Amino acid sequence: MNIPNLQIALDNNNLEDALLCLQEIAEYVDIIEAGTILCLNEGMKAVKYIKTLYPDKILLADTKCADAGKTVANNCKLAGADWMTVICSATLPTMKAAFDIMSDLQVELYGDWTFEHAKSWYDLGIRQVVYHQSRDSLLSGGSWGEKDLNKIEKLIDMGFKVSVTGGLDYDKIDLFRNLDVYTFIVGRGLREADNPAEEAAKWKKRLEEIWG
Ligand code: 5RP
Repeated sequence: MNIPNLQIALDNNNLEDALLCLQEIAEYVDIIEAGTILCLNEGMKAVKYIKTLYPDKILLADTKCADAGKTVANNCKLAGADWMTVICSATLPTMKAAFDIMSDLQVELYGDWTFEHAKSWYDLGIRQVVYHQSRDSLLSGGSWGEKDLNKIEKLIDMGFKVSVTGGLDYDKIDLFRNLDVYTFIVGRGLREADNPAEEAAKWKKRLEEIWG
């Protein structure tokens, strides 16, 4: 198995806070995510600034695009994003239009998707999915468990690079120890830590211990 990447999810409400967070944490993460909240509030300006300041980091625009795949992907690319997300309920033409421009396209798995859908994304050439426990599901009592691990394993077996996200903190890493997770995406677990840099360094060390 490979050592999973660590991705910081910048779900800040404004660019200033996102940049302050990055100042502390960027050196410890492999991928920077301009979070959905940041993209909605600040637009592609946020993506542009982050790419200018951190040109060597992979930058994901978490647009969760549902339509106008070509236009949204073009805008992300022009702003400097390396990767972007589409929502799993987008149509195949939307996904294809985005994928033609942004080959590192991730499908975000929320709600009602099936493995048959996943097969059709794979057939389009898409190789990345994000297995997500939504904030709202966690707030209404959901949690990570066996059912999630089984689905993640099945997606990996299908050939996907699977990132996992949603309310993850350091204590949950071990849950995934038997899976070839591609990337851990962490927002609040890093941004809201007492010392985000130390927390990110601790994450990296643990990922190396388990998967190295
Ligand atoms: C929300 C997202 C978040 O970026 C992702 O889930 C990480 O957030 P957190 O670790 O704070 O739950 O995509 O839609």
